[in-house]
Amino acid sequence: MKHASFQLKNSCVLITGASSGLGAEFARQLAPHAATLILVARRGEALEKLKKELMLKNASLVVHVKSLDLSSATAREELAAWLKEQSLPLNFLINNAGLGDLGDFGTAQWDRLEPILNINITALTHLTHLLLPTLRGHVPSALLNVGSIAGFFPLPYNAVYAASKAYVKIFSEALSMEEKKQGVVVTLLSPGPVPTNFFEVAARSGEKIVIESRAPACFITSPNKVVRIALRALLQNRASVIPNRLLSAAILLLRLIPFSFLWRLKKVEKFKS
Ligand SMILES: NC(=O)c1ccc[n+]([C@@H]2O[C@H](COP(=O)([O-])OP(=O)(O)OC[C@H]3O[C@@H](n4cnc5c(N)ncnc54)[C@H](OP(=O)(O)O)[C@@H]3O)[C@@H](O)[C@H]2O)c1
Repeated sequence: MKHASFQLKNSCVLITGASSGLGAEFARQLAPHAATLILVARRGEALEKLKKELMLKNASLVVHVKSLDLSSATAREELAAWLKEQSLPLNFLINNAGLGDLGDFGTAQWDRLEPILNINITALTHLTHLLLPTLRGHVPSALLNVGSIAGFFPLPYNAVYAASKAYVKIFSEALSMEEKKQGVVVTLLSPGPVPTNFFEVAARSGEKIVIESRAPACFITSPNKVVRIALRALLQNRASVIPNRLLSAAILLLRLIPFSFLWRLKKVEKFKS
């Protein structure tokens, strides 16, 4: 059966990691179109501040703030139960919350690595599993998973993060094929470097990471542009998008060469971030 295309107008959207960076930008760009936004992250104050800003953009928008730690399975289940209780017609889930840890794997603190697995992999998969029946119940609907170009390469000094995003890539691409028949469009967003809080969180204490010094300027994309391109790709039913044309072309070429060889070349060391 052919399903109608997903539309942003009057959508009911849940955004994880909405307290900053790409998540907050998704909320800003969706606010003029959506009927309901559910903003999820740990920092409740930042979410409340964003809620006020969004309601100025669209007075009829309903914004729910859910301040919770997505690394807890109970919190994820309570969130899904709350959505059901409220009978919210969720038709767009954005799995955006994510974090990294930059540096040598052998000397990493486990309490910095475990949240990467918990949030980037487990929370994303569990929330999808909990909410997919609701998305299927409100077709045409959409799921957008935020991966990373890090998921395309076995990145030294970013090993756990890159592996977690490789998981997001494969999971999303497989689900995209499964869900086509159900009327749920699934899009994988794989950004390159984006100036957000991400690098401050990923840097180990005492280390300052300036993304501009690591990535060529032409590969850095603003949050506004990343989100604009991601939403456009989703509306075009695309399974995957890299929101920077040059980077996308570079990745096509680089994937033809073994990464261990590229890693030996000094210039490619900039890909560490
Ligand atoms: N910036 C980049 O260069 C880049 C590149 C490729 C992919 N990405 C991906 O883009 C996504 C968004 O990152 P960003 O760049 O916007 O960084 P960011 O500003 O640091 O945002 C990360 C978001 O994740 C939320 N989060 C982290 N741990 C959480 C937890 N335990 N429970 C609930 N929420 C949690 C944070 O909220 P709280 O701290 O309030 O909980 C925050 O809202 C991530 O998946 C990241 O991997 C980023």
